[in-house]
Order: sequence, then structure tokens, then C-alpha cells
Amino acid sequence: MEKLVSIWSKNRPLPESYIFPPETRPGNLDVPTSKAIPVIDLRQNRADVVHQILKAGEEYGFFQVVNHGVPEDVMNESMGVFKEFFEMPAEDKAMLYSEDPRNRCRLSTSSVNYSREKVHHWRDNLRHPCHPHLQDSIQLWPQKPIRYRKVVGIFSIEAKKLGSRILELVAEGLGLECGYFGDKLSESMMLSVSHYPPCPDPSLTLGLSKHCDPDLITILHQGGVKGLQVFNNGEWISVEPFHNAFVVNIGNLLQVISNDKLKSVEHRVVTNSSVARTTAAFFISPSDDSIIEPAKPPAGDTSVYRAFGFREFMLHYLPNLENNEVVMEHFKLQA
Ligand code: OGA
Ligand code: NI
Repeated sequence: MEKLVSIWSKNRPLPESYIFPPETRPGNLDVPTSKAIPVIDLRQNRADVVHQILKAGEEYGFFQVVNHGVPEDVMNESMGVFKEFFEMPAEDKAMLYSEDPRNRCRLSTSSVNYSREKVHHWRDNLRHPCHPHLQDSIQLWPQKPIRYRKVVGIFSIEAKKLGSRILELVAEGLGLECGYFGDKLSESMMLSVSHYPPCPDPSLTLGLSKHCDPDLITILHQGGVKGLQVFNNGEWISVEPFHNAFVVNIGNLLQVISNDKLKSVEHRVVTNSSVARTTAAFFISPSDDSIIEPAKPPAGDTSVYRAFGFREFMLHYLPNLENNEVVMEHFKLQA
């Protein structure tokens, strides 16, 4: 519990254990925002939306959506509750703190394995399942702030709707039957709330190291504070935060299903020295027993990947988290 950055970090210099080696530390934080990640208006006509999503998924692996149907007050209230959660006194959070990844609702710090990682990340994290079975999952969620379950319950239903809608548009763009992702492939949704307190030296550390998400798609709201960077054509570009937008990115599994048409792209989080940043990411994933494989490749195309179980994927993903090529190579068919 005392390891949470939000608990010990105030007015302290950056500890050695948070300093990344020169090759991975962010250094200059002024990365270009000019080459913007596409912002897609979901209220345009459907064919244009489908086209733009496919293009962004191919070129960037990332896009933002506006006019997405999630009411703004639901987003704002949820982000408010998340901030309040991290601001609560330590004793209110203590029972949720756990270093055991098998714990389904847990408050933790840094990345996936605090005790084994070489350098710690400047992040605290709360994660819990939302779907399937919201009614069961919700029993695991924080009981404080008092309105957490109610407000976040509504937010998660809206996020799930948006996720399903985006996956339908993706299916259409890939020429798959409508409902392709509808059942087991997108059965599970996990919420991961990250909190990055102000950092004494953002050039030396990271909130999250470069990684790809091991899911179908991730739907992220980054509040009003920037920090997310995406690797594109050999450079890091910053994803501009908009209060009314969600950032959507293609996960490793959708890259496989699309047979490399859509790209799961590496991203990372940098910190800043002035304000705390709180983000909410919904990971949309298959059920544990799902088999993942390229959807019937168009005639003439050969499958790049073999079929594999989602469980097998996670076993290989976690130890290779920071090396996406190694992760994906393992599931490729021999050339
Ligand atoms: C993640 C992630 C980005 C952010 O949780 O996988 O990439 O801005 N988060 O918090
Ligand atoms: Ni991510």
C-alpha cells in the first residue's frame, strides 16, 4: 500500500528506482502533435465512418471518436469519481490494495509486476471486470466513494455499447459478417483506471512503458491532460486530449483476426510535473476459452497467424510485454 506513488511522492525527488535507462527514458517531451491521430465523427454517414476507421486502423492503429453517443455527463461524473477515489485517505483504499494479479478487483502500482521489474513506473492503477455479468462484477468494485458503483456502472454499460458499435463498424470494413465479434470474441470487458500524480522529473521516467494492448480494442478516456504517445513512422506522437472524445486502439488480437490489415501499435505514457492525470481504459477481450485466428482471409491471401487460445496468448504476452515483435512472432505460421 505504501508503494502507491500517490501516497509517498509529494515533495520528494524522483527515486533512483524510477529512472529509466537512457534508451527508453522520454528525454525531450515536446513530441509533435501536428501529425494528429485521426478524429472520427461517428454521426457522419456510415460508409464514411467505416472507411475512416479502417484507414486509421491501418495507418496509426489509433483513432479518436466524437459524437459517440456516450453522454458527456456520464463521462464527466465517472472521471470525477475516479479522481475522488485516488484522493481518498490511504485507509479507505487499503483493503483494495493487492500485489496478487489473480485478485479480480485490485489497486496496485506501476506496471504488471512491481517486485520483478527493473524500473518502476510512475502510475497507480485500479482495475476490475465490468462484463460479462455486470451484476456479479459490480459486487467486487470499490464501495467508496459511495456513488462509485452507480456512476461507473452506467459508464461501463455505455462503454460496452460503444465498443460493440465500433466492432460492428470494423467487421463491416473488413468484409466480415455483421455480428462477427458479437459473441464470445468480445465477451469480456475490464476497466483499468490509471492515476499518474505530478512527477518531479518527467524526462527520466514513464507512466507506462511502450506496449501493445492484448485485447481486441481498447476504449480510453484520457480526461483533459495529455500524456499518451503513439509510435508512428519511427517517432513518438502525442495524442491530444479532448473532453468529449474517446481514444480507440487496435489490440494484438484484432491485428491477428484482421490478418495484419489493422495494426496493434506500441504506445506509452509520459508524466508531467504540474497536474495529476487520471485515465479510464476499457479493454474489450474474448472469453477465456476463445480461439483466435485470422478471419477467413480474402481469396489469394494466406493466413499470417495460426489459431491459438486466448489463454495461451496471455501466457506468452505477459513475460514479453515490452517487446511486441516477440509476442506476435510466436503466433505466426512459418513462412
Ligand atoms: C493502458 C494504456 C494509456 C493512458 O492502460 O494500456 O495504454 O493514457 N493507458 O493511461
Ligand atoms: Ni495500452
